[in-house]
Formats: sequence, structure tokens, C-alpha cells
Amino acid sequence: MNSLDQLKRHSIIVADTGDIDSIARNKPQDATTNPSLIAKAAQMPQYADLVEEAIATGRHDVGGKSGPTELHLLNAILDHLSVIFGLRILRIVPGRVSVEVDARLSFDEHATVEKGRHLISLFEEHGISKERILIKIASTWEGIRAAERLEQEGIHCNLTLLFGFGQAIACADAGVTLISPFVGRILDWFKKAKGVSSYSMEDDPGVLSVQRIFNYYKRHGYRTQVMGASFRSAEQVTALCGCDLLTVAPALLTELSGSEAEVPKRLDADEAKAMNIERLEIDERSFRWMLNQDAMATEKLAEGIRGFANDLESLSRYMAKLLNS
Ligand code: G3P
Repeated sequence: MNSLDQLKRHSIIVADTGDIDSIARNKPQDATTNPSLIAKAAQMPQYADLVEEAIATGRHDVGGKSGPTELHLLNAILDHLSVIFGLRILRIVPGRVSVEVDARLSFDEHATVEKGRHLISLFEEHGISKERILIKIASTWEGIRAAERLEQEGIHCNLTLLFGFGQAIACADAGVTLISPFVGRILDWFKKAKGVSSYSMEDDPGVLSVQRIFNYYKRHGYRTQVMGASFRSAEQVTALCGCDLLTVAPALLTELSGSEAEVPKRLDADEAKAMNIERLEIDERSFRWMLNQDAMATEKLAEGIRGFANDLESLSRYMAKLLNS
């Protein structure tokens, strides 16, 4: 049995990409997108028809309103683009697709709630139930509060850009469906900060971070699922075999399916239940303090939001060019 099939015995495998064709090749259960992945896919020639459809639908949506500004129109087009990619992906995967809220709203609880509801309504117009969508939101304090409200309305959320333990605890306390700790970006930070070129899997700070969160959640009976994300190697993926879900880029999925290496289960919910792990109480003050005291999480969260926002801006400029051509 190849390594990917072995992994699938213990973890749900998710494809982390906007490239629809590559999802079809790897047959994952779910798929995740983010603004950078959508921006990349939108500029691939094979998806030009999806971009055209998003422009036409966006124009139709705001056309009735008097004098829509170009910014208003572009924002409507970006929402439709995410939804159109999501709809195509849902024709392939049997499970759910994660669609990200505009990263520029990361510190605005109200606007995040509104955007989440709006994205769900667009999917529902196409007959897709909210059970098949995860609204992806950055794990800021405001993002977590917005997710808590959306979950109370039955809208499931995936809290992303998660680097610190305090973020993970706050997400679980808020009752979010799923979190995405960023294994590879944590490793990137530590390699740079410590001036080392590699870590063994036993010491990999990204892998250890997910193990710690997984054990804490299972020990204290939280329902929030853990989905390891942002992998730099197949070894990092297999080191987390047993995690609830793992979202993996197509190149690594292909590498795993071409390997026969053994993949033992590394994370075990029953073992975690017997561990002696102290429960921590988190409120806004302690959330902000824990984040502030964790240089890696502080820097990576800020950088991640900036990166997604920049990619959205460049996608928006690309769309503006198409609109005006
Ligand atoms: O799912 C998270 C992932 O898309 C981020 O990956 O490689 O940009 O750190 P990466």
C-alpha cells in the first residue's frame, strides 16, 4: 500500500490548492483554498472561463445598484470567483471546500460575519448546503469571535493562520469546527531564527506544535478538529499521521502516492485522553498576551494576513485590467 493510502487509514486527506485538475487526480475527501491559491489559479489559462463567469456574475449583481464604484464591483467579482472555484471543486470532492474570507477584514468581527453569511448565501443559491462549506477566517481575536457567531448560526468555520497555542485554545473555546495550524511556516520561522538548515522530525517545531494542540484538544474533550496545513515535506505530513485532517499541496500528495514507505500512526486520541495536560483559561487579555509573548506566532500571523491581503490586491488589479480591456 502506498504512503498516501496508509495515511488515509488514520487521517482525512484534503487537497490544498485552487488547481481543480490536480484535485481530480488525487481524490481527496475535502479541499482547501486560500487567497494566494485562488489568485494563482485564476491566472492559469485553463480557468479563464471561471474568471469570465465571475466577472459576468459580479456585473449582474451590482449592475442594478446606481453607480457602483469599481471597488464595489471588484469586491463582488472576488466573492463570486471564490464561490465559482468552490463550486467546481465540490463537483470533484465528496466532502467540503474551505473558502476564505477577505484577509483585509481580519480585524473586523462584524464585517467577517457579514462576509461569511454572504459567501454561504451565494453557495446556497447554487443548491449547495452550508454543511459542505467551511468559511476560512484568520485566527485573530476578532476572527475567532466572528467564527463563534457564525458557528451559532450553523455556519462551519476553519480558523487559519494559526501559529500559537493561545490561538488554538481560543478557537476550541469558541466552538469552531476546525483549525488549520501552519506546520511549514512555523518551521520556516525557526530555521531562520536559529540559523539552522533543518530539524529532525522529533524536533520539528511545526510538527510539535500540532501534536501539542491535538493532545490538548483530545485530553479536554473538545470537538474542534485539527487539520495540519502548510507542509514543507512528505516527512512532515507523515509525522502527523493520526491527526484529524491533513491538508496537503498536490506535489506532496503525488510524492506520497508514489512512495511505499511505511506510515505508522503518530497521533492517537485515546493516548491523549490519558495524558496529564493542564487546562488553560483564555480571555481577550490573555489571548493577546500569549500571542505577544510568542514572537513566531506574532510575526507569522501578521505576515500571513499581509501576504493574503497583497495577493487579493494583485488579483483585484488583474480583474480590473480584464474589466477595462
Ligand atoms: O493551507 C495552508 C497553506 O495553504 C499555506 O501553505 O505553503 O503557503 O505555507 P504555505
